[in-house]
Amino acid sequence: MALSLRNLVSRNSLAPLPIGRLLLSTRGLQTFSLPDLPYDYGALEPTISGEIMMLHHQKHHQTYVTNYNKALEQLDDAMNRGDPSTVVKLQSALKFNGGGHINHSIFWKNLAPVNEGGGEPPRGSLGWAIDTDFGSLESLKQKMNAEGAALQGSGWVWLGVDKELKRLVVETTANQDPLVTKGPSLVPLIGLDVWEHAYYLQYKNVKPDYLNNIWKVINWKYASNVYEKESA
Ligand SMILES: [Fe+2]
Repeated sequence: MALSLRNLVSRNSLAPLPIGRLLLSTRGLQTFSLPDLPYDYGALEPTISGEIMMLHHQKHHQTYVTNYNKALEQLDDAMNRGDPSTVVKLQSALKFNGGGHINHSIFWKNLAPVNEGGGEPPRGSLGWAIDTDFGSLESLKQKMNAEGAALQGSGWVWLGVDKELKRLVVETTANQDPLVTKGPSLVPLIGLDVWEHAYYLQYKNVKPDYLNNIWKVINWKYASNVYEKESA
């Protein structure tokens, strides 16, 4: 007889367990909520309009969160029913909506108003690593802009750090695939959202203008903090 996750958890909770599994047994199904932006919707103007930021956060990101939670509940239900085909069928919804939630949660932290340091070049070890791996910050921006402009359909351009190889990488991902789908040791530092919903109301079809301008509000301090933590 198929053993559901819930049965497995309650059975295991009778025996001594490592802390992580014990937490799982008492916590129940984990769902997610829309994180607040660390600044006002209009705080990135004129680079990104307040209208875009509000729609992007309240409508697009919220929809990923809602649909991710829905898919997680359906997954929990399918596992409890011992329904393997539904478990497999849900994988694309989990990847798309879970990825949308992960990517946008990073994206908001990748941006900062100019009067709070947005656009200020990275200092310290990340600045050195960019010069070593790409020649200069300007070369890195040009590379990411070129890859973003060439990306067919919707997706993301990433600056990440490969924790195993100890070097920076530029990668693109399609749709809402998170950077980790390109390699388990990759950690995102900066992700540029190149879906039309991120720029079309303001930049229309001129994606290169959006990509050129977004660097004015990139939060390099956040990227530096992640880099220092992950490459230590
Ligand atoms: Fe987006």
